[in-house]
Amino acid sequence: MEISLENNMYLELVKNAQSVNDLEQVRVKLLGKKGEISNLLRSLGRMEAKERQIKSPQYNNLKQSLEEAIKEKKEILLNKEIEGRMDAEWLDISQDPREMNSGLIHPVSRVTEEIISIFSDLGFSVAEGPQIESDWYNFDSLNIPPDHPARQEFDTFYIDPGDESIRENVSPNVLRTHTSPVQVRFMEKHGAPCKIIAPGRVYRSDYDLTHTPMFHQIEGLAIGEDISMSNLKWVLVEFCKAFFELDSIDLRFRASHFPFTEPSAEVDIRCSWVENSLVVGKGDDWMEILGSGMVHPNVLEAAKVDSKKFQGFAFGMGIDRLAMLKYGMPDLRSFFDNDIRWLKHYGFAAEKSSNLYDKLSG
Ligand code: DAH
Repeated sequence: MEISLENNMYLELVKNAQSVNDLEQVRVKLLGKKGEISNLLRSLGRMEAKERQIKSPQYNNLKQSLEEAIKEKKEILLNKEIEGRMDAEWLDISQDPREMNSGLIHPVSRVTEEIISIFSDLGFSVAEGPQIESDWYNFDSLNIPPDHPARQEFDTFYIDPGDESIRENVSPNVLRTHTSPVQVRFMEKHGAPCKIIAPGRVYRSDYDLTHTPMFHQIEGLAIGEDISMSNLKWVLVEFCKAFFELDSIDLRFRASHFPFTEPSAEVDIRCSWVENSLVVGKGDDWMEILGSGMVHPNVLEAAKVDSKKFQGFAFGMGIDRLAMLKYGMPDLRSFFDNDIRWLKHYGFAAEKSSNLYDKLSG
């Protein structure tokens, strides 16, 4: 066999190896103990001295150049393999690990869940109503007739009924200004007794540090044959203790007026300002957190519930406001700005349950 170093099939084998593994097989095939080159070298011993003189340097050169070629090729293949792995296993180590979270829970959703879980524990179920509401449910049924001054206080968004002729004959729908109409809708459908909460979006034409045109309320309603103001007080104290995670809490019931309750009370919670942030539970200040009272007989009758047989309490509170109080968020407007930095700062990890859930389920 004539072997030329520039153009031999052995070098071709090395060149064509596709992986480090391939190359190792070629090496064993050529230079291994029983490899072809090793066999050639062994055959030198069986040659005539003259022939050996010619072939020996040829074979040894071949062996050497193959060893070099294999070494070179191995380095190329190793680099290629590392590059391949780097591409496949790419990781941006400059990225904050928190950015890898798949998503966070908005504080409003989180607080709504917290409130629902507390009231569920107290035996309340969840009811819902439409956000576009007739003005009968939003006002009349709640003892707020058309000429009642309370209608003005609500900064209502009216839905344009469209055509002029329709506009004259039909009273317009509104974006509900509160969750209270759910009381009437629920009782109308399911009657009494009942114990419900109704969380959801409400709308008013208002915009400043603590008001946004859309915000969230939660309504509470408990109707039975002998439900009283003291039941209302107990439920609200228990709720506030669980929500603010405090063993005892000071609430102040202040006489007030709502058309849909009689008597009515606004409820304040004891708090104090410490370095510009509000601490709930201690101090000498009071913060209003909700409106409440005994459901007005006119509201029960509007919902076709016998007001001589049944009575009960209702309350309404702002979910966003409770979130601001509990988690120290100063500006309500930023809740709805969709600023990813705010959401990352105040959002809750989806996989972590709150202490509250642990406490309630424990
Ligand atoms: N609907 C009232 C509001 O939006 C809040 C409210 C007050 C609801 C007293 C009630 C209640 O159920 O009894 O301002």
